[in-house]
Amino acid sequence: MIKWTPALSTGVKLLDEHHKSIFHWLAELEAAATDKRRLLGVYSVARLKHYADEHFAAEEALMKSANYPDLAEHMAEHALFRVKLAELQAKAIGQDVSSETVEFLKDWLTNHITKTDMAYVPCLKAFETQQDKA
Ligand SMILES: [Fe+2]
Ligand SMILES: [Fe+2]
Repeated sequence: MIKWTPALSTGVKLLDEHHKSIFHWLAELEAAATDKRRLLGVYSVARLKHYADEHFAAEEALMKSANYPDLAEHMAEHALFRVKLAELQAKAIGQDVSSETVEFLKDWLTNHITKTDMAYVPCLKAFETQQDKA
């Protein structure tokens, strides 16, 4: 079963909460794919998309505030994932979500969090410390 694990923790509480919500709906999507429950699939994709959009916007705003140098590349990855989710949402109404799709989303998210997200942690932490002193 798909689950958020502490190995995915960025140490930034708000963003970890977002990642947990995303993983929660990914797990629901996995259940929908396994049990061929199309309505649950449609609903889970919609929730996943909602939380991903909200989360990407929050992450991008924080990176911008902290003057994170790799913001553009990071935003490009988010944009690509948004396109994937929009495609999936359009498809999910007419057919069951496949286990391969769920696997793809899980791998993408795990890879994105452990590499791309983790890379902004020192910058966000430094920004936070600076704000605390100001
Ligand atoms: Fe990200
Ligand atoms: Fe993230």
